[in-house]
Amino acid sequence: MAILVTGGCGFIGSHTCVELARAGYDLVVADNFHNAKEEVCNRIETLTGRPLRVYRCDVREEAALCRIFEEQTIEAVIHFAGWKAVGESTRLPLEYYDNNLSGTVTLCKVMQRYGCKRLVFSSSATVYGEENPSPLTEDMPVGQVANPYARTKLFNEWVVKDLCAADPTFCGILLRYFNPIGAHPSGTMGEDPNGIPNNLMPYITGVAVGKLPKLMVFGNDYPTPDGTGIRDYIHVVDLARGHVAAVQYALAHTGAEVINLGTGVGYSVLDVVHAFEEANDLAIPYEIAPRRPGDVTIYCADPSKAERLLGWRAEYGIHDMCRDSWRWQKNNPNGYEE
Ligand code: WQD
Repeated sequence: MAILVTGGCGFIGSHTCVELARAGYDLVVADNFHNAKEEVCNRIETLTGRPLRVYRCDVREEAALCRIFEEQTIEAVIHFAGWKAVGESTRLPLEYYDNNLSGTVTLCKVMQRYGCKRLVFSSSATVYGEENPSPLTEDMPVGQVANPYARTKLFNEWVVKDLCAADPTFCGILLRYFNPIGAHPSGTMGEDPNGIPNNLMPYITGVAVGKLPKLMVFGNDYPTPDGTGIRDYIHVVDLARGHVAAVQYALAHTGAEVINLGTGVGYSVLDVVHAFEEANDLAIPYEIAPRRPGDVTIYCADPSKAERLLGWRAEYGIHDMCRDSWRWQKNNPNGYEE
């Protein structure tokens, strides 16, 4: 029996594959390598010490998915595959609905056809919108989501919830991530964004490695202690271990559950900059810039449901995240290259 990991060569997917292997699970990866490099397969194999069964395919290809279920015995699926750039989604909404929504529906149809009843879905805290107060809890009404990317996450949650309502033997775990950063402590796997990074940590490491001149801090006039935005940063390895706990739960339960994966601790932009400088003994030049449209003041999880239901909580702190992010970038200044 194996766990199918769609998007298993992406940032969170690859770290989850390593943690699943450490927990003793057999893996099968499906990835179209639109947002991932094939070199990641080698890094996963090196870290797990085992060959990786990889299917190069798109989750929208029903026949390709059927082949996986014909050839492998899949007991559960973790579904990461999808496009994830907020800004891009406003420029390419149809591509986001096609990739993220059609992909999930096709996957669920094939799972049903082959009697695979356990799904862990990669959702996002962005579904809370801007009006919900932090700390955010799973029972809050989802918000006015601000972009097509976040809407695909929200619609996919409903796809899985409605499937669980129609088939009471099905289990769907919807994991709402906060801000994943950090990298595998080995320094051999990490975040490898295409082009200029949108997110804070890969931008900071780009400055640290000399590829970017300085960090632009998007606004210091928020109602926070130092005026910069506050987020709940979570180490990608903690996040990966949260997926292992979610699979273990799904294999023993039915129904749909929404679960936050965050630390419950908020750090401002300048907190992260200073933690990065302290953890790695280097300076990060920055300049205060105007606010970025769509940004909110604070986004933090209440992580208590994950601890209660999954027996999981984040263990790494912000300095670990900064140290591991830098080790990855320093060892791989051009990411996975190719
Ligand atoms: C964090 C903070 C910025 C870059 C995004 C997605 C969300 C989720 C996580 C998928 C904010 C500030 C950033 C920079 C800066 N991904 N910042 N200068 O926007 O909280 O969430 O990633 O689910 O969908 O929206 O993360 O890292 O972009 O920003 O000052 O160059 O850093 O203003 O306060 P965000 P982020």
